[in-house]
Amino acid sequence: MRWIDTLEAAAAEKLPEPLHRYFRQGSAGGISVGEATAAWNAYRFRPHILTDVSTVDLRTTILGTPVDVPVLVAPSTMQRQADPDGEAAMSAGVAAAGSILGVSSNAGTTFAEISAAGAPWWLQIYVVKNRDITLHMLDAAVAAGARAVVLTADTPVVGRKEDDGPTVWEVVQPGHLLANLDENDYPPEDLAKADDLGPDVIGWLHERTGLPVVVKGVLRGDDARRCADAGAAGVIVSNHGGRQLDGAISTARALPEVAEALAGTGTEVYVDGGIRRGEHVLAALALGARAVFVGRPALWALTVGGSAGVTRLITDLSDELAHALRLVGCPRLSELSPDLLARR
Ligand SMILES: Cc1cc2nc3c(=O)[nH]c(=O)nc-3n(C[C@H](O)[C@H](O)[C@H](O)COP(=O)(O)O)c2cc1C
Repeated sequence: MRWIDTLEAAAAEKLPEPLHRYFRQGSAGGISVGEATAAWNAYRFRPHILTDVSTVDLRTTILGTPVDVPVLVAPSTMQRQADPDGEAAMSAGVAAAGSILGVSSNAGTTFAEISAAGAPWWLQIYVVKNRDITLHMLDAAVAAGARAVVLTADTPVVGRKEDDGPTVWEVVQPGHLLANLDENDYPPEDLAKADDLGPDVIGWLHERTGLPVVVKGVLRGDDARRCADAGAAGVIVSNHGGRQLDGAISTARALPEVAEALAGTGTEVYVDGGIRRGEHVLAALALGARAVFVGRPALWALTVGGSAGVTRLITDLSDELAHALRLVGCPRLSELSPDLLARR
């Protein structure tokens, strides 16, 4: 059995049940979370033969930052429940693999500690009703060295979770959330997510931070173009790991439309959701993604193996990708194309 496939069960042994459930669950009826990996499995390759595959190079650049591998870590909450060092341990693991880390707005570790742990990192921002709170967090992230802002755009309201038993919010240890925000300074309504955002928020975020803005949660070509026209440097094709609109199209199916819409614009495309194997990464890159993000597997790896576990996860997936690149007869990332996939 692959080590990656053992991780969730091993993490379940270590985590309180509500936390394990929170990491694993999707929203509502669990349709989108349930079909994410199956949608990647449904692709079929048209491999080349008789090509020189003796050298495979996984290095690339992501918004100008060199990385050793095109497998990045998605922003997620509750990392200090998985490991006492939380996002700092995640960052150290990501750094050792030569990758990039997305850091949640709700991180339980300060931006300064995350930066000190070594990985290049992007701040994921939820714009909230009181824009002063958002601005304060953006300024803190810039000061600590964030390299990009990821605007999560699929969350005007938080997806409904159907919990049996106590929720994670009842077991989370005090002080393990929102390390970069003093929530006591504000009334709860100020912290609610903004539900009136338009594309102009992209320019607003860029002007305030001077950083490239990546829009997360894009599932349609027309929206991708709206983001690019508004100045987005990148988009993440994502349905939030099936945690927002249940029944939202799988990212494996949405990616081709988004990549086609952005072809030639210079706006980079990334994808997340259900990516668990090197072959899934290969399909994503062939369809036009510059890199993929993994969410839950990184949480399981952090829980089970700390920073070394995170490094191993990224390295194992990258080794599988290198192997698949050889077998598909196309060892250079820059030469991958949708032609390597059979029409569905
Ligand atoms: C426990 C958990 C917490 C998450 N927290 C955030 C978050 O704070 N901000 C965000 O933009 N996405 C968040 N996500 C979504 C991830 O960034 C990512 O889109 C998703 O996990 C990818 O799917 P995968 O888990 O199948 O790889 C979270 C996901 C999980 C599983």
